[in-house]
Amino acid sequence: MDRTIEPFKIKMVEPIKLTTREQRETILRSAHFNMFQIAAEDVIIDLLTDSGTSAMSSKQWSGILDGDESYAGARSWYRFESVIRDLTGMPHVLPTHQGRASERILFELVGGPGKVIPGNYHFDTTRGNIEHSGARAVDLLTEEASHTRSRYPFKGNIDVNQLNRLIDDVGAEQIPLCVITITNNSVGGQPVSLENLRQTHDICQRSGIKLFLDAARFAENAWLIHERESGQKHRSVREIVREMFDLADGAMISAKKDGLVNIGGVLLMREDDLAQRADSLLILTEGFVTYGGLAGRDLEAMAQGFTEVLDEDYLAYRIASVAYLGQRLLDAGIQIIEPPGGHAIYIDACEFCPHIPAEQYPGQSLVCAFYRHAGIRAVEIGSVMFGKNHSHKELTRLAIPRRVYTKSQIDYVADAIIEVHQQRQTLRGLRITEASQTLRHFTAKFAEL
Ligand code: F0G
Repeated sequence: MDRTIEPFKIKMVEPIKLTTREQRETILRSAHFNMFQIAAEDVIIDLLTDSGTSAMSSKQWSGILDGDESYAGARSWYRFESVIRDLTGMPHVLPTHQGRASERILFELVGGPGKVIPGNYHFDTTRGNIEHSGARAVDLLTEEASHTRSRYPFKGNIDVNQLNRLIDDVGAEQIPLCVITITNNSVGGQPVSLENLRQTHDICQRSGIKLFLDAARFAENAWLIHERESGQKHRSVREIVREMFDLADGAMISAKKDGLVNIGGVLLMREDDLAQRADSLLILTEGFVTYGGLAGRDLEAMAQGFTEVLDEDYLAYRIASVAYLGQRLLDAGIQIIEPPGGHAIYIDACEFCPHIPAEQYPGQSLVCAFYRHAGIRAVEIGSVMFGKNHSHKELTRLAIPRRVYTKSQIDYVADAIIEVHQQRQTLRGLRITEASQTLRHFTAKFAEL
């Protein structure tokens, strides 16, 4: 039978509190229309992020009990190091408490005023850490990525011509490294092709620039290469993953995504000297090099998660379940970034409510409408998150936690969004009444217009 089902069964459940529309209206107002200010208990289906929200397996939970909590040289550390080395081939493995800790250490070492860090589209914390070091972050998207309806299979790619031009313009000596984010979160969880990675590798190598991966969703990217890139179908995901890392000089990984854990990160490097300097910073701010700010049990859970995520039945289900939600919305006439990517569906908010101009944050307006209507928590990825200068599109992201929600719950989400779409003329724009200078989406306050 040709049908994709969840390749796992539920062993433990967590109740969801159901709320009424009236209750949600009050909650929304007291949170100043900001989803980060709402208690998770007041959310019915939480699609705020796929980060740290995975359901762990029974083997991961048994690893939690089995974790070795010794300060140095714990058994859990050796297992974690060997799993990551096996997966990536990288000699230097540094555990960190999450992805942005890896970013902070790396950019403190290679960033600084005058430096330029190009990428296919830096995630907000990556951009934040680059800029915090005094360096300049540059996003070099391809033309295909700007067309919502384009079904180009690798809209996450970096534009290699623009990369060449940037190197000519600013000089290779100003560019310590180039970051390729797999999958490309900010343009819709879209994958980067192996061919694009190979080209970027060649350009960087010729110019003496290091190539680093932001590999939070490396397994989803590898599966999409397996599915979409010519000549890759016969290869295993593990082989593809290995080739992706073989092309890089290092990587930052938030294990909260494809590591299938609730907390954890990794920083990987080939170069001994850079790794030594990173070790010193790690000890200063995260923890000793064999635990990096984590408990031994977290290292166990990560080692198991990084193994399980390569299961191809799991990846087939994962990608199919995200595509299912996307197709239901498309069938109802709701424009999403096509084709659906790895971890989330991104709704084009300007197309959803064309009567709300970009400066009135249509993406945030949709976020509020989904919460009000059905208790669904989504996140805006647009002018609120990136500010006007860096905003690429006005999007509302529905991120799907891994192994958490059933198909019936995903149908509830699709039905609710389709109902909101039917009443879209009633949606109102927003204005910001209070905001911080960096990463303002976490704390900004809004008022309805
Ligand atoms: N890189 C990418 C591509 C990410 O998506 C994230 C986090 C990070 C780095 C930072 O990792 O959270 O472990 O410090 N993305 C989450 C999201 C927050 O919702 O997309 P972290």
